Amino acid sequence: MNKNLKHIAIIMDGNGRWAKERNLNRTAGHEEGAKVVRNITTHCSDLGIKYLTLYAFSTENWSRPKLEVEFLMKLLERYFRSELLIYLKNNVKFKAIGDLSKFSKKLQSVIKDTEEKTSSCTGLTQILALNYGSRDEICRAVKKLNKQNLEPSEENINSCLDTAGICDVDLLIRTSGEIRISNYLLWQSAYAEMFFTQTFWPEFSTQELDDIISDFGKRERRFGGI
Ligand code: IPE
Ligand code: IPE
Ligand code: MG
Repeated sequence: MNKNLKHIAIIMDGNGRWAKERNLNRTAGHEEGAKVVRNITTHCSDLGIKYLTLYAFSTENWSRPKLEVEFLMKLLERYFRSELLIYLKNNVKFKAIGDLSKFSKKLQSVIKDTEEKTSSCTGLTQILALNYGSRDEICRAVKKLNKQNLEPSEENINSCLDTAGICDVDLLIRTSGEIRISNYLLWQSAYAEMFFTQTFWPEFSTQELDDIISDFGKRERRFGGI
């Protein structure tokens, strides 16, 4: 495994279109997408990746139809309940980023519980971005800085972000053919290598991830040097 690849971030997009292509309800796409989360997480864990950050719900996604938002909230609850044993079996530590205070008490508690119960796992850390938006994260970080009377250095800002203690993103992948960032990890992806694939998230496979990782290995990362 490429030792320069520690952190993979993915914008899991295209669940709705995947379902529509099959004349299914959009919710069927989310359901299928959740299975792929498990597959890709286990694969990254097997590959020895340190951090996998997955965009699951953005600060902008509340603007979707009420029924879809409600479905996603229920799906998250179900996901955490069924996933705990899988995390533990694979030595995967779970962490959430984003403003969780907007979620129901029940969902907040199952998220906290999953974080606590996996806290001593030492393999991959799977980070789910939940009610996450980079701008919101940066605003909350600035408030923390002010409160602690800290100087706004890069180091201090880093330590106030939700991703404190986690290294920068090396590889950023977006599925579904959209070529945009959609308010995801703007600070942390400053020097990430980006890959955009046409594949809808429910069809994203471990083979495709392996191909992208192999391409990543061929990229020359200069970080401003020559
Ligand atoms: C990504 O798939 C999942 C979430 C944003 C929750 P979409 O639901 O955005 O699927 P498309 O982009 O409409 O196909
Ligand atoms: C980004 O996808 C958010 C997640 C994958 C959770 P969206 O489907 O919400 O993004 P836009 O609206 O196409 O930019
Ligand atoms: Mg989308």
